[in-house]
Amino acid sequence: MKLANIQMTSEEARVEKKNILTEVSDYYTQKLAEHGRTAKGVDWNGVESQTLRFQQLCKLIQAPSFSIIDLGCGYGALLEYLDNLYTEFSYLGVDISEAMIESAKSRFQNSKNAEFIAASEPQRLVDYCVASGIFNVRLERSEDEWASYLLNTLDVMDKSCTKGFAFNCLTSYSDEPFKRDYLYYADPGWLFDICKRKYSHNVALLHDYNLYEFTLIVRKAN
Ligand SMILES: C[S@@+](CC[C@H](N)C(=O)[O-])C[C@H]1O[C@@H](n2cnc3c(N)ncnc32)[C@H](O)[C@@H]1O
Repeated sequence: MKLANIQMTSEEARVEKKNILTEVSDYYTQKLAEHGRTAKGVDWNGVESQTLRFQQLCKLIQAPSFSIIDLGCGYGALLEYLDNLYTEFSYLGVDISEAMIESAKSRFQNSKNAEFIAASEPQRLVDYCVASGIFNVRLERSEDEWASYLLNTLDVMDKSCTKGFAFNCLTSYSDEPFKRDYLYYADPGWLFDICKRKYSHNVALLHDYNLYEFTLIVRKAN
């Protein structure tokens, strides 16, 4: 696959990424304003599929106690999911939308094990990093531009964790009539190959949970 920023200087790539993040942040801030702190407020169809995604991503977690970054945390729905399953963990929710972060902070103001920050690059090293839904909405960006941005963000995830990371994408195997121009449909085989060659020998591709998407789990060696 040809990638758009191969010819760019690092300064041009930095400005380009900043522009993408602003567009994406505006999109989700608008969704939150329309639908509030609900699954629709982070652009999902409903709670059921939102939770099903968390189930896939959390297959990454193998320790009873752990630290985790939720990149693109929205209003913090994953924190509630984790709270129901685990007692010993620390959670950092990171989102580019200030409005999402404000919403999450007010929802979880009494959580002692959680923090939320408005950012795109968490400056912290944790056990695990997960991202649900951050690679779907490319708006006016070309496929190449979005693919470059996606790969750059995987580097960010990789650098932020010691035990592994997991993320989901809409699948290129989606039925054509249902595809939308402003969404990005990734080729699962292409991304599996990149993760396997670049990040770890231990990579799992989950494409068996009845959504038009897949999850990649990258486990780092101990
Ligand atoms: C589809 S929503 C999902 C929210 C949450 N993960 C959930 O499943 O409930 C995606 C969220 O990721 C945020 N986001 C998108 N790209 C991001 C990035 N590169 N860094 C941080 N946040 C990002 C958006 O602002 C939005 O709140």
